[in-house]
Amino acid sequence: MTEKVTQVKLSYGRCAVSPKFFEDFYDDFMDSSPLIRARFENTDMEAQRALLRHGLSHLIMYAAGSHAAGMKVDRLADSHAKGKLDIQPWMYDHWIESLIRTVPRHDKKANAQLLSVWKEMIQMGVDKMISAH
Ligand code: HEM
Repeated sequence: MTEKVTQVKLSYGRCAVSPKFFEDFYDDFMDSSPLIRARFENTDMEAQRALLRHGLSHLIMYAAGSHAAGMKVDRLADSHAKGKLDIQPWMYDHWIESLIRTVPRHDKKANAQLLSVWKEMIQMGVDKMISAH
């Protein structure tokens, strides 16, 4: 696991310094379904991109075994659950697919093996969020 964690952390570091990474992610995610686009109709996307910078690192740290990050993911799960944002489980599949399409556009070192590790790690936090829905 440790080597996978390092691989994803380094890859995320390369993405996070790439100026349009978060913008490209949300454009791809919103393009993936009109129902998803509608959820961000009244959202300040600049603020949202800054929030995702942290949210994504919490998902990675959670997969790396951090208890503190697990508590952050619990909080995210709570805000996205029924009665609040009410994010449907299928929307998380789109979220992961968008991420996996966006990473290689910004991380020149990305390859199929690295992307499958990304997917495996992100899925852990997403499963936690979906199970709280
Ligand atoms: C597991 C992946 C996700 C992460 C890390 C994430 C992260 C965040 C964060 C950090 C916020 C800020 C507010 C808060 O802390 O609750 C937020 C808000 C939000 N998220 Fe997510 N999110 C994820 C998945 C999704 C999905 C699949 C959708 C589906 C459309 C979604 C839609 C929203 C919306 C609509 C808001 C509120 C925007 C506003 O304030 O107008 N999120 N998300």
